[in-house]
Amino acid sequence: MDLFEQVRQVMLEVEAYNIKQAQDLENFRLAFIAKKGKIPALMDAIKSIAPEERKKFGMEVNKLKQIAEEKFREKQAYFESQIVAPESSLDLTLPHIPDTLANAHPLSIVRNRIVQIFEHMGFKQSEGPEIEDDFHNFTGLNFPENHPAREMQDTFFIEKNPDIALRTHTSSVQIRVMSTHQPPMRTFSIGRVFRNEAISARAHCIFHQIEGFFIDENVGFVDLKQTLYHFVKEMFGKDTQIRFRPSYFPFTEPSAEIDISCLICKGKGCNVCKYSGWVEIGGAGMIDPNVFINCGIDPEKYTGFAFGMGLERITMLKYQIKDLRLFTENDVRFLKQFEGIV
Ligand code: PHE
Repeated sequence: MDLFEQVRQVMLEVEAYNIKQAQDLENFRLAFIAKKGKIPALMDAIKSIAPEERKKFGMEVNKLKQIAEEKFREKQAYFESQIVAPESSLDLTLPHIPDTLANAHPLSIVRNRIVQIFEHMGFKQSEGPEIEDDFHNFTGLNFPENHPAREMQDTFFIEKNPDIALRTHTSSVQIRVMSTHQPPMRTFSIGRVFRNEAISARAHCIFHQIEGFFIDENVGFVDLKQTLYHFVKEMFGKDTQIRFRPSYFPFTEPSAEIDISCLICKGKGCNVCKYSGWVEIGGAGMIDPNVFINCGIDPEKYTGFAFGMGLERITMLKYQIKDLRLFTENDVRFLKQFEGIV
């Protein structure tokens, strides 16, 4: 059989080949298209054709090749379309799980508001570490050697001699800033503090404080009062009253405790304010000259005030939350009540 005849013969075979299933398709490919199949063999044979007939032969083999490949592709596509998806465990009749976004935690909401209020008054935010040395947490702040706050009951010590502890208040940031900057300075800091206390509805061993201070020439107690007065009105509303009670802190002189009128009973008396009409939100005072000396600031030239308040207490008063353990329990029913507030 001459080669032209063979091409025609293979063409007939290709056309007649019955492809009924996937295995037939593979057999078809092997018989005709694959490297060792009949069509590549015919293409190779072009070498033995007389040069003047090569063009014609080439065209016929190419046509054969195209027809075979087309038949292959067509059947292949057909078989692929017949593949059924494996049975899935997806039940499309189930109700969908609502994809709700998380909302801000109440402490974050109040923290953001505090930052906003103090920044509007020209205070700049500063930071300090949660693990502190004795100087920044106690000595620099004029704590006497035998002050009870240094004792094991209050402070979580990490190392003794020299003492390293979890900071017990954000007043440590005062020392950090004052020993690296010169007045005038007006700054605040918000962060976690740690005290070795039993956890109850009103106390936790980890809580947050906001600390602020202002140092310049001629800063007086009246500036402290006005600053906190403004803060309280902004935070709790313009009807809120504020009062200062004399107190003692080693790092301020004079010192005061800050009370606001009870938001729950509006000053009439209830169990939250223990029937006094007032609740405490923090401490404050004029910075003791000894603190200035400890930090290299001239107490003859400068005066300043400082204050510290509890973030949990402020948040509890603002949203009338009676138990601060709710802040850390991650109960969605509690947290969801603050949805939409930023
Ligand atoms: N550091 C004090 C406390 O934790 C609060 C305070 C800060 C008081 C600044 C006066 C000035 O109780």
